[in-house]
Amino acid sequence: MSTDTPRQLLGGLSAADFLREHWQRQPLLIRGAFPDFESPLSPDELAGLACEDNVEARLVEERGPEGPWQVSHGPFDEATFARLPERDWTLLVQAVDHYVPEVAALLEAFTFLPRWRLDDIMVSYAPPGGSVGPHVDQYDVFLLQASGRRRWQLGGKVPDDAPILAGIDLRILETFEVEAGQDWTLEPGDMLYLPPGWAHHGVSQSEDCMTFSVGFRAPSADEAVTSFADYIGEQLPPSRRYADAGMVPPDDPAELDDAALARMRALILETLDDPAQLAQWFGRVMTQPKYVDQLVPTETPTDPEALVAALQEGEVLERSPGSRFAWRLREDGQATLFADGDGMECSPGLARALAGPQPIDVDMLIHHEAPAILARLFDAGSLGWPWDDEEE
Ligand code: SIN
Ligand code: CO
Repeated sequence: MSTDTPRQLLGGLSAADFLREHWQRQPLLIRGAFPDFESPLSPDELAGLACEDNVEARLVEERGPEGPWQVSHGPFDEATFARLPERDWTLLVQAVDHYVPEVAALLEAFTFLPRWRLDDIMVSYAPPGGSVGPHVDQYDVFLLQASGRRRWQLGGKVPDDAPILAGIDLRILETFEVEAGQDWTLEPGDMLYLPPGWAHHGVSQSEDCMTFSVGFRAPSADEAVTSFADYIGEQLPPSRRYADAGMVPPDDPAELDDAALARMRALILETLDDPAQLAQWFGRVMTQPKYVDQLVPTETPTDPEALVAALQEGEVLERSPGSRFAWRLREDGQATLFADGDGMECSPGLARALAGPQPIDVDMLIHHEAPAILARLFDAGSLGWPWDDEEE
């Protein structure tokens, strides 16, 4: 809950002040956001993750064997790390919160923002001089210095069409001018918030520089229009189409006149302007998992009674790493629980409990529809038994 946000996390600001003054508007440097912070992950552990299949990892070498600003994609192996020079490279691993529970736990500090806005926690490691060049992201990001030191320089808000370096696989700005007073070296526990579209350049200043990027996503108008049109389109009967009953004879049968355009416009806008469908689509789209393959559906449907028995014996279900939940009240007083791109009707109490941080234990059974909903979520791979059990 945002009221629990400790003031030091946002540099003395309340969540409401931060959201009003900074979120999506202005960067904020926060010294000591996480006091006495110790990285829950070492550079070696990060390198280990980058060697695993299905983990999205990149290596950026400022002077790579194949040219400047060379980008390679994982999985890597020991030979990759053995050949790297002493400086000027960066290893970046996406969605580390999906693999390391202690990194996922950091997300509890960000409950002053809607959870469904979260993208992931990317972790970077860089020896001295390592950077990905001056660039712009279209995401809001909190750059938490986890170990070592990184110098961050900001170059203000730049237009969408700012020129970028040609001939490389990275989007590096052709020109980058540091704004006065926007040049800081971050120490462990310090954090820099950046709104989308803000030019930034972060260079490692130490042997052990690790930066955690807590990134927030927002669908583009392009994605939203296409995706909503697809969603609603699937439900429209073929009889719903352009109609021109009662029209007057055209002046010129080859002309697309204003009246025709107005009819088409009305058809499109009236079809799209459906708040109930919009809510159903939005919940599904904002809970789409980042990596669909990471959800492992069960091979056979689970018996809800078997789940009930396990919970009654004291077992506790967990939300799968990377699973996304959200809920919304419906007009009829029921709720829709959204989970990993699916939507299901249930009571507001159960929806809120499942989408929140509450443990999924025997107490969930006070909601009479819990067994069926839990079995459905379990079968979809959104819920599972704890991480450790799976490794046994
Ligand atoms: C990094 O951690 O090296 C780069 C993060 C960013 O600039 O988005
Ligand atoms: Co960036």
